Order: sequence, then structure tokens, then C-alpha cells
Amino acid sequence: MSFHHSALFNPRKNTFANARHRKKTGGGGKMSEWVNYPRTLAAVCRRLRGVLIEHQDALDVIRVQDTDDALFFVDPPYVMSTRDKFVVYRHEMTDAQHLALLALLKSVRGRVMISGYASELYDDTLTGWTRLTRQHYASAGIGMGRRTEVLWMNG
Ligand SMILES: C[S@@+](CC[C@H](N)C(=O)[O-])C[C@H]1O[C@@H](n2cnc3c(N)ncnc32)[C@H](O)[C@@H]1O
Repeated sequence: MSFHHSALFNPRKNTFANARHRKKTGGGGKMSEWVNYPRTLAAVCRRLRGVLIEHQDALDVIRVQDTDDALFFVDPPYVMSTRDKFVVYRHEMTDAQHLALLALLKSVRGRVMISGYASELYDDTLTGWTRLTRQHYASAGIGMGRRTEVLWMNG
């Protein structure tokens, strides 16, 4: 499913498509894309039924949501030393922040799955955890090559 918000909203200019756009595109283009939005939004609503999206530090969410029957699937930014490319996300994590995340995840009551590239930092900290590996194409297969992704689990 895709939601083409960029068709109407230009994040670079922080503005919506406007009347000038209409002239450029001959009146079709951007403005007629509203026609597709009810169908697209209905698909978004179906997908997000029963989903809660939190806009908070992951560590706070984990502390609040931890119960015996919780499952935390955690997909943090890759450890810097495992990267080809350095800054990718708006919020990157230092090694100290990874260690703080792992310390918290080692203390929770719920089940935990963490994905990432192989790193000593994770392996040395998560001793005794189940560790699975799988080869896959990085960056959704758009040219970054094959890499080994690791899944660490506390059970
Ligand atoms: C590997 S990406 C996860 C991508 C996600 N699984 C997806 O499919 O879109 C890591 C994400 O964690 C975010 N992040 C970094 N530090 C965070 C923090 N303390 N709390 C919550 N999110 C954080 C980054 O901005 C980035 O979007």
C-alpha cells in the first residue's frame, strides 16, 4: 500500500500544491489526485485498526508497555561501526544509547526480538539470547548489496 502524500505536500518547501501548480499541470495533475484519497485513506484506516502509534522515546514506550505478555519487536538504527553509510535517520544512536537500550530490554518482563547487523556490542551484551541470522538485500534491494541481518531474542 502506498500513500502518496508527497503528491500534494512538498516537504522541501513546507507547502501544499497550490493554484500555480494547476497552471503548470493544465488543471489535472495535483488537484485531481484528491479523487484517489478516500480509497487510499480507507486502506490506511483498515491497516491501522487496533494500532497505537506513539511519538516518544522508545525507552519510555518500552517501560510503559512492559507486561508479562508483551512482545517488543525492536528495530533500532544500525550500530555505527557496522554501517557503509553513516547518517541515515533523523535520530541516530550512539554506542552508549545502544547499551542503554539493551540494558532496558534485558530487564523487561515481556518477550523481545531485536533486529540489526552483527556487532560485538550486541553479541557481548546479549549473551545467552537466541541468535538467528539471515542474508538479505540491504536498503530494500536498491543497490547496497547483500548483508547478514541478525535477530536476537530473549527466549
Ligand atoms: C532501522 S529504523 C526502523 C525502521 C522501521 N522498522 C521501519 O520499517 O520503518 C530505526 C528508527 O529508530 C528511530 N529512533 C532512533 N532513536 C530512537 C529513540 N530513542 N526512540 C524511538 N525511535 C528512535 C530512528 O529515527 C529510525 O527511524
